Amino acid sequence: MVSHMSDPTRIRVGEGGESDYDVVIGSGLLGNIAGLVDPGVQRVLVIHPQALRTTGEAVRDELRTLGFSAFIAEVPDGEAAKSAEVAASLWTVLGQCALTRSDAIVGVGGGTVTDLAGFVAATWLRGVAVIQVPTTLLAMVDAAVGGKTGINTAEGKNLVGAFHSPAGVLCDLAMLATLPANEVVSGMGEVIKCGFIADPVILEIVQADPQSVTRWDSPALRELIERSIRVKATVVSQDPRESSLREILNYGHTFAHAIEQVEGYSWRHGEAVSVGMVYAAELARLAGILGDTVVDQHRSVLAAAGLPTSYRGDRWPQLYAAMRRDKKSRGSLLRFVVLGALAEPSRLEGPAESMLMAAYDRVSHR
Ligand code: GLY
Repeated sequence: MVSHMSDPTRIRVGEGGESDYDVVIGSGLLGNIAGLVDPGVQRVLVIHPQALRTTGEAVRDELRTLGFSAFIAEVPDGEAAKSAEVAASLWTVLGQCALTRSDAIVGVGGGTVTDLAGFVAATWLRGVAVIQVPTTLLAMVDAAVGGKTGINTAEGKNLVGAFHSPAGVLCDLAMLATLPANEVVSGMGEVIKCGFIADPVILEIVQADPQSVTRWDSPALRELIERSIRVKATVVSQDPRESSLREILNYGHTFAHAIEQVEGYSWRHGEAVSVGMVYAAELARLAGILGDTVVDQHRSVLAAAGLPTSYRGDRWPQLYAAMRRDKKSRGSLLRFVVLGALAEPSRLEGPAESMLMAAYDRVSHR
């Protein structure tokens, strides 16, 4: 399974405390997993979705070769994994494996699996180590880093969860070789978000060659991933529990979550975030804080990456209702992350409905 080791990049997350961890990025890195597992660990449970059985088994076999007692648990593909039933089935497996507080869980998969594995690790024995092995672009640059974990309930997504930082994250770019093209494009939505909120070089790299940045083995994609993870690492190191700064990572997400709800979660997250960022940019322009050039740049960069920049124009009541239910709102006030310029995020609180509707009009296609 270990093909060849390119020089891995290590990004440290944390502020020098005991819970700091490394995100390791490179190609053919599975052999590096040993470096992320604490030497005191004896038993490891590898959690993977059905579609990644071969990869999950390869991770388990690698851990066995390294001398760990490694077990495996398969969970459903996609969002179905993030349920209380699946979490409960994993607690049963953990009990059967006799996983102790000094042992570890490994989550192998996209954001749904890393969220679930992290949540189960946060709750088992009040918290055991989790090592995340994200296999999608979205999970590498967002879900697997930063310790947000959770499951869904019938009432909504991510309503039950915990902050639980991983012990390490392994981003093996070779995992992206078989990722469907539309999943890569979706992940690019979160990459471009990092460009707008903190690192505009990301936007330049995407615009310079939008085709090559979607190839798993292109140096440009690796640079984008590393830059995005550095943005996330810097933010979550300063504000791990989202008391303030971390909110900037939600740029575009209020409108995006509304689209996702209205569309019954048939939209890919990164695509919804793309339209959500154009919406936030239009809102900032209407509020008089963002100039035309950066608003236009939203459309040009996102479109170059193959992402949508508009949404159907006949869904305002549903979108508005969904935004009002968003868990990022405080009390009855809607809050948006907006930009005053590139890499200058701020907050817009309680904009009038007329302004919200006007921004919707500007992102609507008929
Ligand atoms: N996905 C946003 C965050 O991790 O805070």
